[in-house]
Amino acid sequence: MCGIASYIGHRNAYPLILEMLKRLEYRGYDSAGIALCSQGKMKIYKEQGAIAALAESLSKQKPKGNLGIGHTRWATHGPATKINAHPHYSQNRRISIVHNGTVLNYYKLKEGLEKAGYEFYGETDTEILANYLDYWQQKNKGKLLSAIINTAPLLKGHSAFVAHDNQEPDSLYACNLGGELFVGRSQESEYFICSDKNALAGYADEYLALENGQIAVIQKDINCCLLNSSSAEELPCSWEKLKASAETLEKGSYPHFMLKEIFEQENVVAKTIDNLINDNGQALNLSLNNWRQKIAKMRKLVIIACGTSWHAGLVAKHFFAELAKLPVYCEYASEFLPESIDAEDIIIAISQSGSTADTLQAVQAAKERGASVISICNVDGSALTRTADVSLLTIAGPEIGVASTKAFTTQLAVLYILSVRFGRWRNQLKANEEKKIWQEIKMIPGKIKKILLSGPEIEKLAKKYKDYPNFLFLGRGQNFPIALEGALKLKEVSYIHAEGLSAGEMKHGSIALIDEQMPSFFIAVKDGQYDKVINNLLEISARQGHIIAVTTDKDQIIIDRADDIIPIPECPPLLYPFLTVIPTQLFAYYVARERGTNIDKPRNLAKAVTVE
Ligand code: M6R
Repeated sequence: MCGIASYIGHRNAYPLILEMLKRLEYRGYDSAGIALCSQGKMKIYKEQGAIAALAESLSKQKPKGNLGIGHTRWATHGPATKINAHPHYSQNRRISIVHNGTVLNYYKLKEGLEKAGYEFYGETDTEILANYLDYWQQKNKGKLLSAIINTAPLLKGHSAFVAHDNQEPDSLYACNLGGELFVGRSQESEYFICSDKNALAGYADEYLALENGQIAVIQKDINCCLLNSSSAEELPCSWEKLKASAETLEKGSYPHFMLKEIFEQENVVAKTIDNLINDNGQALNLSLNNWRQKIAKMRKLVIIACGTSWHAGLVAKHFFAELAKLPVYCEYASEFLPESIDAEDIIIAISQSGSTADTLQAVQAAKERGASVISICNVDGSALTRTADVSLLTIAGPEIGVASTKAFTTQLAVLYILSVRFGRWRNQLKANEEKKIWQEIKMIPGKIKKILLSGPEIEKLAKKYKDYPNFLFLGRGQNFPIALEGALKLKEVSYIHAEGLSAGEMKHGSIALIDEQMPSFFIAVKDGQYDKVINNLLEISARQGHIIAVTTDKDQIIIDRADDIIPIPECPPLLYPFLTVIPTQLFAYYVARERGTNIDKPRNLAKAVTVE
């Protein structure tokens, strides 16, 4: 979704902002723009479409300025046109602004401004915000800061913005009202403002995460000062060392980030496990030691997440139910009902980005009910890790492909280890059982590697099946969420319609869809559901449906009942989702490649969904 990249310092801001914006491309956008301040005047350049189009249109002009604000826009208020692209400016062109999030009451503010004689060139809420700041500035005859402080409490929704006033040519104001914004600082006292901390890599040495309700006032060659947006009280700046490296944002020799990230799974799952269990098979401090009492006494566990992270939560339901004997609910964050939550409940919020608006809202609501929140997240310092009571990190490294892959398997690793700890603290598991479990999970990365080697076989299957317009994905038990995940992956990268179903539920309706035009991708491994799954396979083949089955090794019983198989190694039943998901990811990737879609940035999608 929208991205902010801004700069103030001694260098030309243009190439720096352009590069940061390119690093934000993966988050999804449909227009881009940059405003640069030179000799006290802000010049705005914007284009519909890709950043490359913006760069191309500016290749001859070579724009310059030591201060600039840049943006990638994902259209909400008004279509993706050049006029609606950011930066926006006030009617008198004094204030310019880039803005993430939404002003829900924009139309009310607009009415007030219209009565005061303001006119608008576009359809965005951001243009209204620019003029609202101008309105307050004219009223107060003060600095932009006082206009921001007056405006902030009147904005409904969640926003983060960077604003500039031509009358203060050496200052930038960054304000976070429920979005995400990071200020980076280099050793040469340059300041970078970005909505994604990773995009600061190689530029900034330290960063400051702006909390909700904070304004950073940055003055060239002077300093960065942090203020509370409602009281204007000055706050201490807690700079942290920036650890991200620029290389992790490159795809190296892979044609797509999605493929690179699928192949990284062997390694990142191992790293995530090693971060939580040492070589002697002992669980390391999960930063939850003082939660033992709470976990022993808890009433219920509620997992909240969206998309792929929600599928990880559905798998984890099986982990916690079996290993910790806990009542577990896994809810879409956008459908979460806080009314059922109380102070004895524990919430696990799962998110790759840590900036998904629906998840953040649900966490906030759960905290207001007194629940304790554990986050499982891939981005340290994100809004989610800052909001949760305790956070467990996945060590997946930056995930750039919009389709989530390595985040999912690393989330499973943390969830599995956590469920075992819960089991121990709730006296449901013995020490020797725990030790055996650690040994089993340590074998998983090697098994993932074996499946990745079957990439060329899966590529052949993709060629065979690429033209089917619809697909079913089927699984049972802990592999039902993998059916959901497989369908989501195929949909988002290949644009083929796919439905994930519980194989047991199929006969209650969806079986009506089966004919020779409706292939089924079946998870048919040797677990407690095996006999029932064989039955379900027969039900499909009896109706001329084609079957691709993920099997345990080369299982003759399944081979006889499926059209094509993808063998995976054997493992303890509860751990199968770590393995069964890999063929679904590779299948989606190769089908999408055959169909020539934009795999890393599928149409209409954004990496971090920062609007509700
Ligand atoms: O960053 P999050 O894990 O909170 O994101 C949640 C979903 O938006 C995300 O998993 C989405 O479904 C992916 N595009 C799926 O591949």
